[in-house]
Amino acid sequence: MQVDVVGSVNVDLVLRVDDLPAPGETVMAVDFARMPGGKGANQAAAAARMEAATRLLAAVGDDEAGVWMREQLAQAGVDVSAVAPRPGLPTGAAHIAVDARGENQIIVLPGANHALGPVTPLEDALVVLAQNEVPVESIASAFAETAALRLLNAAPAEPTALAIFGLVDVLIVNEHELARYAAVAGITGADEAALAHGLLMRGQGAPRLAVVVTLGARGCLAVWRDRQVAVPAFPVVPLDTIGAGDCFCGALAALLAGGSDLASALPMANAAAALCTQARGAVPAMPARAAVEAFMTTSGQ
Ligand code: RIB
Repeated sequence: MQVDVVGSVNVDLVLRVDDLPAPGETVMAVDFARMPGGKGANQAAAAARMEAATRLLAAVGDDEAGVWMREQLAQAGVDVSAVAPRPGLPTGAAHIAVDARGENQIIVLPGANHALGPVTPLEDALVVLAQNEVPVESIASAFAETAALRLLNAAPAEPTALAIFGLVDVLIVNEHELARYAAVAGITGADEAALAHGLLMRGQGAPRLAVVVTLGARGCLAVWRDRQVAVPAFPVVPLDTIGAGDCFCGALAALLAGGSDLASALPMANAAAALCTQARGAVPAMPARAAVEAFMTTSGQ
């Protein structure tokens, strides 16, 4: 059950604040931590912790942060043999503020992530998962050269990614990203299901199978051309939402690589994301499969 993740590696510089600053406002932090992150790294760690053999295809700087990130990911169980240093460039960095309710604001400095270049998935990869913090050309090269199931978490919203939706089997977006892509594509609709269905009806530019919309505390929604299913979230009080969406994507990739069908995999991916919000940071918060299974049992689902 091999998963190849194509994506970003960032050092997360996390400032904990009581309230997120408004534009022009200065606030005092109560805590600071340096943590491993980046959407690609987070999703790879999540898939590995869900017991999929997981390789990350990524670029880091030729700096101390790049060495540290490779070590952190290897400790999480990720194969880092395709995480390559780029001479003269810094490792990506994300400046993150998290408030007392667990909500966050993130600014990413891409560094080496934008020098990833073309990548080739393993021949035995069953799932290839990518996100938008690396160049769209890198994602296109991976998706064009694989027979695996291709998952794109099109986050952050990047209008140029619309050009590769036709190479995607399952598109994963949150409600804000969905609204942005729909607006750029000229799709209108009364709700998330209608907008997702609109993306699926774009002919050659449409994802092949389905669109999954993550809805935070409302759970998630999967839309196919001929049906849809809504899956409720597990009720938790979040401590820290950094990486929760990444956890959902990585867990989903692991479950699909393990033979689950999309609809059956969604409750467990939701459970993994809920557990991820109970610990601080992104990579360190990705839950082990046994913990996710126990959480589902105690939650009665
Ligand atoms: O999705 C959360 C991630 O977004 C953080 O780890 C940060 O690095 C940014 O990529």
